Amino acid sequence: MSVPILPTISTVCIVISAILVAIGWGKIKKGQIESHKKTMIASAVFAVIFFIIYASRTVFIGNTSFGGPENLKVFYTIFLFFHITLATVGAVLGIISISSGLKDRLNIHRKLGPFTSIVWLGTGITGVLVYLLLYVFYKGGETTSLIKAILGG
Ligand code: HEM
Repeated sequence: MSVPILPTISTVCIVISAILVAIGWGKIKKGQIESHKKTMIASAVFAVIFFIIYASRTVFIGNTSFGGPENLKVFYTIFLFFHITLATVGAVLGIISISSGLKDRLNIHRKLGPFTSIVWLGTGITGVLVYLLLYVFYKGGETTSLIKAILGG
């Protein structure tokens, strides 16, 4: 079985980021504030690495279309949309959670933190499923990039 290297690295990053959120949640449950802060910042670093790889791949190499059976395509597309929605909401909530945590706005942070964590864990799980559907269970379809689309190649 061969899988493309960049999507594999970025999926691993998203999984590590989600695992770190779960660990960071556990830390604050035990009252370890400093360790909570460090774990959550580390989680954000992996999320940023994921995003840099994902965004540059989209621009320079491209997104891969679903290569599985035609009758599953609609379910894959809905699922992908669900994952992208979770990821976008998670990124915005993540930024607000980090800044409210760092600024000691704990009223907001305490309410938002658990919700952000759940959205981010959901992003990780659905991200792995999208990866499996796109590259492991079925062979990836065509890849088109923004650059190619713009240059007409
Ligand atoms: C990196 C900067 C961060 C700092 C300095 C920070 C700090 C804190 C502090 C001091 C608390 C304890 C509040 C209390 O007294 O009850 C807390 C709670 C919490 N934080 Fe953070 N946090 C940060 C980032 C994050 C992020 C990014 C998330 C989510 C992805 C998050 C999720 C949570 C959760 C789930 C709780 C527990 C809320 C509860 O059960 O009441 N934190 N944080």
